[in-house]
Amino acid sequence: MWWSVLPLSFLFPSALAAQPAAPAPIRAPLRDLPLGQLNFLHTTDTHGWLAGHLQEPSFSADWGDYISFAERMREKIEAQGRDLLVIDTGDRVEGNGLYDSSQPQGVYLSEILRHQHIDVMTSGNHELYKHNTSEAELQVTVPNFRGSYLASNIDIIHPETEELVPLASRYKKFTTKQQGIRIVAFGFLFDFTGNYNNTVVQRVEETIKEDWFQEAIRDEEVDLFLVAGHVPAHSPEYKAIFTEIRSTRGHGDTPIQFFGGHQHIRDYAQYDAKAVALASGRFMETIGFMSIDGLSSTNDPSITAGPVFKRRYIDNNLYSYYHHTGLDESSFPTDKGLNVSQLITDSRSALHLDKIHGCNPRDLWMSRAPYPHNDSIYTWLEKEVLPETLKNEPRGDGGRPAVAVLNTGAIRFDIFKGAFTQDTMWIISPFTNEFRYVKDVPYDKVQLIMEVLNKQPQVLTGSLEETFDGVDALGPPAQVNHLDNMAGTGQIPLSAENPSGAVVPGYTTQDDAGDDGDDTIHSPISFYRVPNVFQATLSANASATPETVDLVYIEFLQSYLTLAAKFAHLDLDFAKESESYMPGSTLTDLVLEWVGKNWPCN
Ligand SMILES: *[C@@H]1O[C@H](CO)[C@@H](O)[C@H](O)[C@H]1NC(C)=O
Ligand SMILES: *[C@@H]1O[C@H](CO)[C@@H](O)[C@H](O)[C@H]1NC(C)=O
Ligand SMILES: *[C@@H]1O[C@H](CO)[C@@H](O)[C@H](O)[C@H]1NC(C)=O
Ligand SMILES: *[C@@H]1O[C@H](CO)[C@@H](O)[C@H](O)[C@H]1NC(C)=O
Ligand SMILES: *[C@@H]1O[C@H](CO)[C@@H](O)[C@H](O)[C@H]1NC(C)=O
Repeated sequence: MWWSVLPLSFLFPSALAAQPAAPAPIRAPLRDLPLGQLNFLHTTDTHGWLAGHLQEPSFSADWGDYISFAERMREKIEAQGRDLLVIDTGDRVEGNGLYDSSQPQGVYLSEILRHQHIDVMTSGNHELYKHNTSEAELQVTVPNFRGSYLASNIDIIHPETEELVPLASRYKKFTTKQQGIRIVAFGFLFDFTGNYNNTVVQRVEETIKEDWFQEAIRDEEVDLFLVAGHVPAHSPEYKAIFTEIRSTRGHGDTPIQFFGGHQHIRDYAQYDAKAVALASGRFMETIGFMSIDGLSSTNDPSITAGPVFKRRYIDNNLYSYYHHTGLDESSFPTDKGLNVSQLITDSRSALHLDKIHGCNPRDLWMSRAPYPHNDSIYTWLEKEVLPETLKNEPRGDGGRPAVAVLNTGAIRFDIFKGAFTQDTMWIISPFTNEFRYVKDVPYDKVQLIMEVLNKQPQVLTGSLEETFDGVDALGPPAQVNHLDNMAGTGQIPLSAENPSGAVVPGYTTQDDAGDDGDDTIHSPISFYRVPNVFQATLSANASATPETVDLVYIEFLQSYLTLAAKFAHLDLDFAKESESYMPGSTLTDLVLEWVGKNWPCN
């Protein structure tokens, strides 16, 4: 059977290993994992969510559960004389209180992370934005994963020697434990340019011309090339690597397995019959699974039939984990997994992540509600939070009209009905940008700037489109390319039971191999495209359109605004002419203030 439903008696009394506050997973029809000769588990873009999702049953398993899962899968697979490899492709940092709220950041997270056995690991862009984040990577995470961490195109200025050195090994060659499959593995980052100047990211297209890479792909004793990277599955960077390997003598049809990420989507790309790429979502929602059959190996060099590639996107919860291992709540958890779940509980407690700031009466969505709409998080910010909290006393007292411009990407996650905790705060907005403003900007020019930033068709002329290609980065990451594949979060019932085992809303992924990739069979969820930027009217007289307004904005937007103003024929240098609007306050502070006043817990 291509999917199976567990017996009705299989109910969860409570989640035994997942975080104590996590909801029990819900029953759902599942597709089995198509195990093969070589198998992989893959995480990417976890962004600190190692405690799992405490308000979403589908994603409620934690890193300790994932450790148990990998251990149990390895036992099962190796007992059949087959192999399992575990991959992580970066952006492990920033975006969850477990990382952001400690001082220094990441000290709890890296202690938790290191307990998983990972065979190939890479850096994402988030590891490189700040000077000290990349240094922590070099001094903590790379040593913790020595022999597994690969950095094919990243160098770092060593803090002690001040020399430019590779962040980690460029590549490695190894053979699998059970079958002796010979693998040459790389670890890439996409052509990222936003890193701090203590690291150097070499373009992928240049890296693959280097001697060491050319030498590595000229190796003829290879059964599989494994390219892990913080790189989208469908991307020019991966296309370039694929083409370079394929055009190398002897590798016209050597199997190549790519693992990617960055876009926060589930995705699968087929480059040719023997080269594929898997991307495994975001935020510990998804454990990517791949299997390959028909590989040659040192044990059996004669196999030529393959390869056959199969993929699954596993919803990260215990219900899926028990099903795929064939175990239950008593036989599934390993000592190590249980210890790590406990370590997460202790860390969350030390960081006060369960501290409650308020209780929100309803769900607010980033893209599961249209904008504008009462259920839209942006409408809520625009109509309620910002007008009531964003103030500059000297300017605001006279009722002077002001307009605040924010990018939708400033919000990272939905807000669920229920307790609004310290954890919620870090999850929805980990950014530390303050507000700035420029005085007395013509109101119609502000509207024109909004249209430019939102690429409204009427202002979208050719040159503008080219110049402003990067502007879509202002929206939520998952929207950038693949709206259809976006997260299935939210309206999944928050109750622990689903006695009928009926299909619930969630991910319904379409990829190059079809629509049968998700392990859990879900009903689809509608997503709405949201604008890049939105505006809130502050202290304005609603019955009149003002001539000029104070233009308030999140500092992150400054360079975009300067460029957009040019297109609006407004000569304004925001860097020079702006002032701090509400010194010391970030969007996060305003949200907390509003929640404390307006969402009391009864
Ligand atoms: C980096 O420096 C900032 C500012 O001092 C600090 O808040 C943060 O914890 C540091 N991060 C790391 C990884 O050391
Ligand atoms: C890196 O940028 C800082 C300013 O942020 C500057 O002081 C420093 O000289 C730069 N270092 C290099 C190697 O360019
Ligand atoms: C789990 O923790 C216990 C108690 O601290 C310790 O004795 C045990 O060795 C740990 N087990 C593993 C596999 O880490
Ligand atoms: C939207 O919310 C406001 C205030 O919260 C309420 O007055 C209004 O009726 C709601 N509109 C809809 C369509 O639900
Ligand atoms: C708002 O504008 C109207 C029309 O211009 C004016 O009559 C009214 O006094 C204004 N109200 C405030 C509070 O400024």
